[in-house]
Amino acid sequence: MIDANTKICCLIGDPVEHSLSPLIHNAGYQALGINYTYVSFQVSDIKQAIEGIRGLGIRGASITIPHKTSAIKYLDRIDPLAEAIGAVNTVVNDDGVLTGYNTDGEGALKALEEVTALRGKKAVLIGGGGSALAIAVGLKKKGVKLVVLNRTEDKARKLAKQVNAEDSGSLERLAEISSADILIHTTSVGMWPKTSETIIPDELLHDRLTVFDIVYNPKETRLLIEARERGCAIVHGYKMLLYQAARQFELFTGRQAPLPAMESALTQALEGGRDATHFDRR
Ligand SMILES: NC(=O)c1ccc[n+]([C@@H]2O[C@H](COP(=O)([O-])OP(=O)(O)OC[C@H]3O[C@@H](n4cnc5c(N)ncnc54)[C@H](OP(=O)(O)O)[C@@H]3O)[C@@H](O)[C@H]2O)c1
Repeated sequence: MIDANTKICCLIGDPVEHSLSPLIHNAGYQALGINYTYVSFQVSDIKQAIEGIRGLGIRGASITIPHKTSAIKYLDRIDPLAEAIGAVNTVVNDDGVLTGYNTDGEGALKALEEVTALRGKKAVLIGGGGSALAIAVGLKKKGVKLVVLNRTEDKARKLAKQVNAEDSGSLERLAEISSADILIHTTSVGMWPKTSETIIPDELLHDRLTVFDIVYNPKETRLLIEARERGCAIVHGYKMLLYQAARQFELFTGRQAPLPAMESALTQALEGGRDATHFDRR
């Protein structure tokens, strides 16, 4: 029950109406029976929103598109990992002191490490956007040999330089996948409603490969279906969403996240408990 002692956490972004974050976080609070609640705010002015976190004593916030980079300058402290990425997806309010974190890369790496070891492996990372950068920073910390490929080659080159990746190129170099151990797809291709699309020709998917598609709507993308058919180990995008939220939950509450309850709320929503065709963002 919400009362005068309820701690408030929230999502700040634009748009937010299709986000799954309230569902995942609130499922966790309910499972532990703790007096927290999580709501969404559609925000255009991030400076005012961050002043609001301080002014209202909001305990924690998830930050999403388009504010992940612009939020940084209004915070008091930035965790070193978020600093290396240059973006925050989490703000924690400790008695008015606001610290920014980035749990996206951690979430992705946890999902991947459930399925494969990383050190010394060769990974091909497809994409050059914000998620690609967060994941690339984590992969390099884990000693992965990294090749970044992106439609816009310049962005791949820039990202590779920023994280000290071994190589980069355009999507014309997809044959790199033949000698890779891990393939990570971070573009929006294959996301609802264009679920029949994929960037990767299925003949490049070999049975020594682990394939991670960070797209989570649909829960199993065409890329993952083809990878499974070709004998690859697969990692679902929803696991990244779950684990980045779980890390936020722990930062907000100081409690271990009740993963089964949070996962069940998320997968039920993705499998159609809600109108699964209509959400595409956190
Ligand atoms: N599972 C999770 O927890 C999670 C977390 C964050 C994001 N996501 C999903 O990840 C995807 C990317 O998010 P983001 O925030 O990184 O986006 P972003 O910063 O906008 O980057 C988008 C990337 O997709 C590429 N791209 C877009 N359309 C393409 C096409 N038709 N062909 C080839 N490449 C294309 C872009 O290439 P160019 O550089 O050439 O434009 C860019 O590399 C979204 O689907 C999002 O929902 C999932």
